[in-house]
Amino acid sequence: MKQRLSGKVAIVTGSGGGIGKAVALRLAREGADCIIADIDMKKAEQAAGEILSAGQRAMAYSIDVAHVAQIQPMVDKTVAEFGRVDILVNVAGIAQTKPFLDLTQDDWDRIIDTNLKGTVFCMQAVGAQMMKQIPEPVKKAGKADRSHGKIVNFSSISGRRGRALQLAYAASKAAIISVTQSAALAFRACNINVNAISPSVVPTGMWEQLDEDYARVLGTSPGRSMQDFIARIPLGRAGSPEDMAAAAAFLCSADSDYITGQTLNVDGGFEMN
Ligand SMILES: NC(=O)c1ccc[n+]([C@@H]2O[C@H](COP(=O)([O-])OP(=O)(O)OC[C@H]3O[C@@H](n4cnc5c(N)ncnc54)[C@H](O)[C@@H]3O)[C@@H](O)[C@H]2O)c1
Repeated sequence: MKQRLSGKVAIVTGSGGGIGKAVALRLAREGADCIIADIDMKKAEQAAGEILSAGQRAMAYSIDVAHVAQIQPMVDKTVAEFGRVDILVNVAGIAQTKPFLDLTQDDWDRIIDTNLKGTVFCMQAVGAQMMKQIPEPVKKAGKADRSHGKIVNFSSISGRRGRALQLAYAASKAAIISVTQSAALAFRACNINVNAISPSVVPTGMWEQLDEDYARVLGTSPGRSMQDFIARIPLGRAGSPEDMAAAAAFLCSADSDYITGQTLNVDGGFEMN
């Protein structure tokens, strides 16, 4: 495989499992050293072990991204162990399926804190570190010559339109599109690229849970809601974690240096703008 990321250091949140793990494994295969940052340390250690046994450097790190105070120590530890941070992929996220009238303040806070606040403050802490790494002459010139960092966030098709049963989740994912644009503008002089990926259906632990919840709330059989979503995907199949990882690797590589502030639909054509 082409080594587009050799010498790069990447933090991937939510990379103990699901899409995040596939992203970390792909970045490592392209040459990056990876920090596997997850709330589930057992899963993080397992994913880091897979990368280490494939010959790349990796470190498992326990973090709840919903707690802002835990974010800077993750960046500090990465710099202490690996010397720098070149890539941040914010994958950690949670979903919930519940009628709007049953939504509680606790539900709202949990989802917004994890999906939105975690993404925003990881971008802030890592962005500040990326800015520190820019050589002095480039800083003095006031305009960066080339890309000095890559940030990729995870939105969703649920961020493109409302969802009656996922109001908080859809709100968090719509806001990811906005904060991706704002951060891209905030970091433009430093030439840090900030983009997002919007998946449709990717069979992971999150979708297993969604399927069960849809079945309970709608009174349908398990598996039905996933089949209904897939039936609306023009390419006729669910996405794989590896499909998401391939797009993330592109957005983390020099091949996407002229792309910033965008949310890329990696959804088999489910949404077209
Ligand atoms: N699976 C899909 O179909 C789909 C579709 C659209 C968007 N997404 C988005 O993609 C991302 C990954 O989804 P997935 O399907 O792989 O989910 P998943 O549940 O399979 O994996 C999520 C990972 O994040 C970790 N995590 C959860 N809360 C965390 C926290 N507070 N701090 C740190 N780590 C935490 C979990 O331990 C897990 O390893 C999410 O942001 C999700 O919203 C997924």
